[in-house]
Amino acid sequence: MRFFIFLFAFVFSIITPGGGGLSNTTATEKEALRNIQKRWRITTWETLLSIDPCDRLKPWRRDGENAWINCSCDPNDNCSIIELSLGTNRFSGGIPSTVGSLTLLEQLYIDSSGLSGPLPIDLANMTSLKTLKLGDLSGADSNLSFLENMKSLFTLSLRNCQVADEIPPFLANFSNLTYLFLGNNALSDLFPSEVLTENKNLTTVDVSFNNISGSLSSSDLREELSMNYIGTSMNKQSDSQPFLKCIEMESSPCTSNNRSAVGSFSVNCGGKELSFSGIDFFSDTTPLGMADFYISSNHRWAVSSSQSFISKPNGSNFIVNTDEPMPKLYQTARISTRSLRYYVVGLQNGTYKVELLFAEIVMDDTPSWTGLGRRIFNIYIQNQLVEQDFNIIAEAKGSKTPYNKTYKITVANNILDIHLLWSGRGTCCIPAEGTYGPLVSAINVTGEDHSTPSPTSSSHNERRAGIIVGIAAGCAAAVIILSSIVYLWWKRIDLDHIQVRTNTAKQS
Ligand SMILES: *[C@@H]1O[C@H](CO)[C@@H](O)[C@H](O)[C@H]1NC(C)=O
Ligand SMILES: *[C@@H]1O[C@H](CO)[C@@H](O)[C@H](O)[C@H]1NC(C)=O
Ligand SMILES: *[C@@H]1O[C@H](CO)[C@@H](O)[C@H](O)[C@H]1NC(C)=O
Ligand SMILES: *[C@@H]1O[C@H](CO)[C@@H](O)[C@H](O)[C@H]1NC(C)=O
Ligand SMILES: *[C@@H]1O[C@H](CO)[C@@H](O)[C@H](O)[C@H]1NC(C)=O
Ligand SMILES: *[C@@H]1O[C@H](CO)[C@@H](O)[C@H](O)[C@H]1NC(C)=O
Ligand SMILES: *[C@@H]1O[C@H](CO)[C@@H](O)[C@H](O)[C@H]1NC(C)=O
Ligand SMILES: *[C@@H]1O[C@H](CO)[C@@H](O)[C@H](O)[C@H]1NC(C)=O
Ligand SMILES: *[C@@H]1O[C@H](CO)[C@@H](O)[C@H](O)[C@H]1NC(C)=O
Ligand SMILES: *[C@@H]1O[C@H](CO)[C@@H](O)[C@H](O)[C@H]1NC(C)=O
Ligand SMILES: *[C@@H]1O[C@H](CO)[C@@H](O)[C@H](O)[C@H]1NC(C)=O
Ligand SMILES: *[C@@H]1O[C@H](CO)[C@@H](O)[C@H](O)[C@H]1NC(C)=O
Repeated sequence: MRFFIFLFAFVFSIITPGGGGLSNTTATEKEALRNIQKRWRITTWETLLSIDPCDRLKPWRRDGENAWINCSCDPNDNCSIIELSLGTNRFSGGIPSTVGSLTLLEQLYIDSSGLSGPLPIDLANMTSLKTLKLGDLSGADSNLSFLENMKSLFTLSLRNCQVADEIPPFLANFSNLTYLFLGNNALSDLFPSEVLTENKNLTTVDVSFNNISGSLSSSDLREELSMNYIGTSMNKQSDSQPFLKCIEMESSPCTSNNRSAVGSFSVNCGGKELSFSGIDFFSDTTPLGMADFYISSNHRWAVSSSQSFISKPNGSNFIVNTDEPMPKLYQTARISTRSLRYYVVGLQNGTYKVELLFAEIVMDDTPSWTGLGRRIFNIYIQNQLVEQDFNIIAEAKGSKTPYNKTYKITVANNILDIHLLWSGRGTCCIPAEGTYGPLVSAINVTGEDHSTPSPTSSSHNERRAGIIVGIAAGCAAAVIILSSIVYLWWKRIDLDHIQVRTNTAKQS
């Protein structure tokens, strides 16, 4: 108890140095914040009109608020805003162009908040940015020319922002660029390979689900680099091209003439090949990077993984395991902080039973604070939402407890797509930072009746539209359900240097 009093006093002393109230922020920056406040009616910022925004006592400077700023102040208390974070609010409308007058800003974060494009060209003035994370924009298309002078970027994340442009070659000159997330946009043309060869610091590239092409040689794809280009026309080894094309729903059929379609599929996610009640589960132990995918050597299935934030910069492989006494299939699992997607190709057309096997092996369900963790994600099969806010512990009535979920689905184009997607809900950091998002232990797919294939049910174009609708639906869900608590965690994940308070408590 004494420790907590001490902790409280300590935290309080951090947020009230010298009594506050003496800071001085430039008029331009004040005006920009006022504009943002007015545009989105941010209630915690209402007194911005009268008090200096960098005042240390002000709630909008506190980590944990939904709309948050951080300032850098000199010894004279002349301040500039270096961080603006507007995550997980329910804003609407466009990003006001006055944001661009915050030219000393180093971190800009607006994600999953229901905003619409296009991105204002004034963002180009923010040449000090090190982190730019904008996500899930609807409305008009955007282009990337505003990035040209943001040479200090370390993390660039523009996911699902309706960017209709080429990937700009000038990114090759951003020497500190380390994380590049451009998935689920309308990017087109060739991927500029110099972005990979010139940027020695680049470790993560996600360009999945864009209409881009290009051939990457093995020297382009350095050992330290993880790159996800599933859902594009890019190739890694040319012999996986038909597989990638099939997933992209391009012209290639998802079955090859010299192989017969199969009627079942089983994989032990994150674990070794295993025979379980007479069924062989494929091995799925390939380590995946922050944005990565793996195509099985027999070209029958693939797993694609994209991580949300830089929660583990030096990365686990996003595989977890346990020694708890449980059936072996449940002792390993794949996890992801955003998207985990399994594709099975070359299946016979027809109806299937898809059995997903789960056991929460990371979080616990004890009465202590470590039992407060909640892992919540959505499940899409064939782009249909089959589970919203799925919570393994709640369903299984405990952690380390096996739980199966079975769905009846139709395969009409020889391909099965199982997508587990984090939509922004649940806890982030219990028991450890980055503990959230999808987890799956095994997948068992069995054909039910293959005597009546449905030849007319789905064309390539319809399926392509289905994918896009699926993604958009996922994002809409993300926008609706976010809470400030999640924001708090999110914020912490986002900035690796911030100490997590719950971790401090754990040490007591
Ligand atoms: C803030 O800046 C203005 C203009 O430079 C100056 O007149 C004022 O004294 C400053 N206030 C403080 C508290 O530093
Ligand atoms: C706010 O910015 C300062 C740098 O001016 C930094 O030292 C501090 O860690 C930041 N605070 C948070 C909570 O990010
Ligand atoms: C910095 O603060 C001092 C003292 O408050 C003030 O006189 C000066 O004008 C400020 N400088 C700028 C650039 O705002
Ligand atoms: C951005 O810079 C351009 C050119 O210098 C200027 O015209 C524009 O007003 C600036 N935008 C903002 C929001 O400051
Ligand atoms: C890029 O987008 C901005 C903002 O919508 C627009 O003003 C500009 O003309 C666009 N540039 C190109 C090359 O399309
Ligand atoms: C890259 O990062 C280093 C160290 O963090 C910094 O000194 C340098 O100015 C940065 N380069 C650019 C172009 O911002
Ligand atoms: C990178 O910068 C150099 C020097 O400023 C310039 O000559 C070159 O064209 C740039 N490369 C790209 C791809 O923009
Ligand atoms: C990028 O790499 C260079 C050379 O390895 C290193 O000096 C620099 O600090 C790196 N920048 C960042 C931001 O890590
Ligand atoms: C993809 O890009 C190619 C050219 O690179 C173009 O011919 C094709 O129409 C594009 N497809 C879509 C769906 O935009
Ligand atoms: C796989 O699913 C089929 C069909 O539901 C079932 O008969 C079989 O027992 C399951 N096997 C395993 C090992 O999960
Ligand atoms: C889950 O499926 C496995 C494999 O089919 C089976 O052995 C087990 O009994 C099932 N468990 C539950 C709780 O239904
Ligand atoms: C499965 O259905 C698709 C579309 O209806 C068709 O093009 C394909 O030939 C069928 N495959 C098999 C093996 O029947």
